[in-house]
Amino acid sequence: MRVSIIAAIAENNAIGKDNDLLWHLPEDMKFFTRMTKGHTVIMGRKNYESIPHKFRPLPNRKNIVLTRNISYTAEGAQTFNNIEDALKSCHSEKEVFVIGGSEIYNLALERNLIDTMFLTKVHGKFDADAFFPEFDEENWDKQKLSTHPKDEKHAYAFEIFEYNRK
Ligand SMILES: NC(=O)c1ccc[n+]([C@@H]2O[C@H](COP(=O)([O-])OP(=O)(O)OC[C@H]3O[C@@H](n4cnc5c(N)ncnc54)[C@H](OP(=O)(O)O)[C@@H]3O)[C@@H](O)[C@H]2O)c1
Repeated sequence: MRVSIIAAIAENNAIGKDNDLLWHLPEDMKFFTRMTKGHTVIMGRKNYESIPHKFRPLPNRKNIVLTRNISYTAEGAQTFNNIEDALKSCHSEKEVFVIGGSEIYNLALERNLIDTMFLTKVHGKFDADAFFPEFDEENWDKQKLSTHPKDEKHAYAFEIFEYNRK
């Protein structure tokens, strides 16, 4: 099973503020949907709660929510109290996606659970309270998948990279 992170990150590593995203980039959202469709997505309790009611659970995907609260329930999602148990429950799957937020990206990376990262680098620096963790680029093979300019539907240009652990 491949364990992949998917995230959109600003130049200053910002990913969110006030439990919300910092930008609206429809083409990046399409990439997120295309990549994760049909797979399991693992997210933190705060990320799950940040998704508007009408869009959660994320459709056509098995949704897993991580929380330390043993009585927490999330409609349409399975809950786990640790990431290892969550991953074990997906052992027969080909690929699962860790979709944030900051605490969960950090947890997965510091425990060395991640094989691949799909990172959208958003051109801009943002005031934020949630950040993607620092990581050593030396430990990863990096490949650019696409570039998207700023246009009428996208306030910021962005590039999408795939990182594979060396
Ligand atoms: N740009 C992007 O790609 C992207 C993607 C996703 C999210 N975001 C943004 O990120 C922000 C949310 O990130 P966040 O760091 O505040 O929250 P988060 O990572 O989504 O969720 C944190 C919660 O996860 C649970 N948790 C953390 N560590 C755990 C562990 N070891 N075991 C079990 N459960 C654990 C806890 O839930 P309990 O408190 O219930 O115990 C904790 O409060 C939002 O602004 C969101 O919009 C951005």
